[in-house]
Amino acid sequence: MIKNKNLPIGVFDSGIGGLTVLYRLIEMFPNEDFVYVGDTLNLPYGTKTKEQLKVLVSNVSNYLNALPVKSIVIACNTATTNSGHLKETLDLPIIGVIEPTANYALSISENILVLATNVTIDSNAYQDIINKNKKDPNSKQFYLKCSDFVDAIENNEINTSYSYKLVQDKLKTVKNENIDVIICGCTHFGLYEKELKSVFPNATILECAVPTGLELKKQLETLDLLTDSKNKGTTTINVTKLQDNFKDKTKWFDHPYNGVYEIKVSK
Ligand code: DGL
Repeated sequence: MIKNKNLPIGVFDSGIGGLTVLYRLIEMFPNEDFVYVGDTLNLPYGTKTKEQLKVLVSNVSNYLNALPVKSIVIACNTATTNSGHLKETLDLPIIGVIEPTANYALSISENILVLATNVTIDSNAYQDIINKNKKDPNSKQFYLKCSDFVDAIENNEINTSYSYKLVQDKLKTVKNENIDVIICGCTHFGLYEKELKSVFPNATILECAVPTGLELKKQLETLDLLTDSKNKGTTTINVTKLQDNFKDKTKWFDHPYNGVYEIKVSK
């Protein structure tokens, strides 16, 4: 393992969803440098096969590892479900979003609704952790496939009449259930906080960002890899396909960054 605490931290997702994680990481680690990759050329991940995802996840991770970075945060639930193989070839801390988020949710309440992509729900990753760690046999959990939210969010359908209808229709089957926590089990879905609140005004809308940041902190601390720089860290955003409306649909990302660059991650 390259032990250089002043290298950047790599963060990736299929698109803009991982920026919701990066946004909080910048707040939690103000002195760290970050390099982000949005694999927009291959978006969406949530409806691909396991075989396809393994290749895509390896390509982006290998790109980040070669920069190099000191750690990789997989700011994508779908990619996290297909990342187990990375440990065989990459010798650096790799932090996924699912385990920290599922356990954080359980610490709030066990009455949970998980919204995620088709791949993530089918992987049973959330179901396995929640079933293993929940304590109350009478608590209830619900799991809904929402890959259609990803397409809408990437098309900038946020806070529009279309987005409210999409979310309200999806939640119809569970809207009368006793749900205390809604896990945004796809990093895009934090951008639907208002839409989700319109159905569940009192539920906690839990994004992956903070639980994942806490796990990152724990791992970097253990390995003595937190930066010792006292300067404000820098952020670089890369995408594998630069879309004209990128700036427009990421207006909410108001932390400063060096720029948005188009990169190639596959050989
Ligand atoms: N943001 C990703 C996640 O957390 C998935 C989006 C996609 O389907 O590409 O699962």
